[in-house]
Amino acid sequence: MSRQLFVTTALPYANGNFHIGHIMEYIQADIWVRFQRMQGHKVDFVCADDTHGAPIMIAAEKAGITPQQFVANIAAGRKPYLDGFHIAFDNWHSTDAPENHELARQIYRNLRDIPESKGGSLIERRTIEQFFDSEKNMFLPDRFIKGECPKCHAKDQYGDNCEVCGAVYAPTDLINPFSALSGAKPALKSSEHFFFKLSDPRCVAFLEKWTQDGKLQPEVANKVKEWFTVRTNPDGTTSEGLGDWDISRDAPYFGIEIPDAPGKYFYVWLDAPVGYLASLKNLLDTRGESYDAYMAHDKLEQYHFIGKDIVTFHTLFWPAMLHFSGRKTPNNVFVHGFLTVNNGEKMSKSRGTGLDPLKYLSLGMNPEWLRYYLAAKLSARNEDIDFNAEDFMLRVNSDLIGKFVNIASRAAGFLTNRFEGKLTHAFDTQGATLLHTLREAADGIAENYEGREYGKATREVMLLADKVNSYVDQHKPWDLAKDAANNEALHQVCSVLINCFAVIARYLAPVLPELARSVEQFTDSNMQDWHLTNRDVIHIQPYQHLMQRVTPEQLEALFEPPAVLEEKVTPGGEEIAATIGIDDFAKVDLRIAQIVNCEAVEGSVKLLRLTLDVGEGKTRNVFSGIASMYKPDDLIGKLTVMVANLAPRKMKFGVSEGMVLAASHADEKTELGIYILTPWPGATPGMRIS
Ligand code: 2FM
Ligand code: ZN
Repeated sequence: MSRQLFVTTALPYANGNFHIGHIMEYIQADIWVRFQRMQGHKVDFVCADDTHGAPIMIAAEKAGITPQQFVANIAAGRKPYLDGFHIAFDNWHSTDAPENHELARQIYRNLRDIPESKGGSLIERRTIEQFFDSEKNMFLPDRFIKGECPKCHAKDQYGDNCEVCGAVYAPTDLINPFSALSGAKPALKSSEHFFFKLSDPRCVAFLEKWTQDGKLQPEVANKVKEWFTVRTNPDGTTSEGLGDWDISRDAPYFGIEIPDAPGKYFYVWLDAPVGYLASLKNLLDTRGESYDAYMAHDKLEQYHFIGKDIVTFHTLFWPAMLHFSGRKTPNNVFVHGFLTVNNGEKMSKSRGTGLDPLKYLSLGMNPEWLRYYLAAKLSARNEDIDFNAEDFMLRVNSDLIGKFVNIASRAAGFLTNRFEGKLTHAFDTQGATLLHTLREAADGIAENYEGREYGKATREVMLLADKVNSYVDQHKPWDLAKDAANNEALHQVCSVLINCFAVIARYLAPVLPELARSVEQFTDSNMQDWHLTNRDVIHIQPYQHLMQRVTPEQLEALFEPPAVLEEKVTPGGEEIAATIGIDDFAKVDLRIAQIVNCEAVEGSVKLLRLTLDVGEGKTRNVFSGIASMYKPDDLIGKLTVMVANLAPRKMKFGVSEGMVLAASHADEKTELGIYILTPWPGATPGMRIS
């Protein structure tokens, strides 16, 4: 019976290009989807950019563009990767799209408005204390608070854990905390937050059942089980059972505003998985289909492919959100491990540099080599796999090409040249048995694909290819071809071989879709339908080379450090900004200013307060983050350069009426310092700089 499947991969953050870890997940899911379609099932396979959150907002601000523009730029770079590796999503959308705003708000309202008769609301408001950066006028996410580790006293550690000694703590435990955004000392400030009451007995009972009913991978279910008994708090202490989930963030935040709560936004992880549904809805809209009707389909099956680092979100928060908002929960979540490269570092989100997918493609390396290699390594278990260059070459050249592709090249020439490309069906007994054995394997291989045991599936296929190769070695078509008296035997043997080849090509079609397409033309048979395995090939087109071997040179080039890229000169630690016209420059009014007074700012280690004379007959008050470099007394009386037409900015310590120009390296950690500019003698206060 035909099934209706809705399949997703995790939505990647729109803050960088794909790395090989993303590609692995997409290939894993794409193979499954192609397999399901070959079985005759209907599949909708979608993804989207995960666009919201503080890091993206801050990165956009740094780049001088809106977050919308920032994520649009990232989205524009997705296609070459997806097309390049034959990853065929039916839709690619964005969590900032209207469908997602709408759906996230609906789900929230449903959770908030659960009637008392059904146990009451699962949303609660609570006031909490958080670090606030008064210069940036925003609450600071943990990752944007730094300070000294309370355990080992390492400097410059993040607000949630120490990278030196591994200690886990709350940002409030840091010694001398400072904002990584402005350098200011953050102050504790209270704010009302919204919580999803995951600790509510209704949620606990539902999730215990949902996670432990046998659908999850055993190792995943076991891990999740622990969370019901013990949980680690931000300060490293532990508590009993599931904790409530803080789902709100205060403005400024790039996200979806919470209904009836101006200035409050959904935490990015609330609306991210909703993006699965938003992308599906968008796809259905373009097809003129009803989303509600689609979701109401009682046979609909929903599956999420994800990495092991985001299991909590997908096995606790997401099913609970869906269930208690009156929606269908996923049938399953398929968790994979990380990909390491050459036994190297984990392909983490931030450091996925080991194997550059676009470089792979630009070297002319066949995407199906990678698809095959990953398939050969993947299982249904949540375990890490390693990309090893030597192993890759061996599996591609010896197995994929040596054992499988070569079957066709060994038989095709004789059939084309001697038998006009026509195949016989009068097989010899051994050949008929061999072909039968291959065709009999269909169900076992299908079972492995279905269970995401691709490694087992490819191993089984290669064992079949071994059998075919022994048949070749035994019957030696090249010897048979020497004597016309053997014509019939030659015809039989070659026909058996091409049929075997077609069977194997069909078994590998979910992994090697392009090759399957070529085989489709070569054998004039349909490779998209698993059930046609028993159909004989009738004739072939002249053989054209189906796949090249991978060379050591290609692998060497792939892993060569990206000399050109990394050595790209970035003066002062950052690239020269985008070109502007003279008119843009003219908008900035730079003037010579005299520092008539300078003093330390109480409560700030970074700032000095400057009193500047720009020849206006009055002075200006300007704050500058140069306290680490200059003693106030040394600056008094000196000339410098200021932006005179910058809009006044209200800061914690007063209003700043301009900005003093100063030079520094882009990376504060270089500790190269910050230096104010001084004009050559002769310049006087008020002179314009152009
Ligand atoms: O971990 C991540 O990369 C997230 N952007 C995954 C989100 S998956 C889904 F929930 F959107
Ligand atoms: Zn430490």
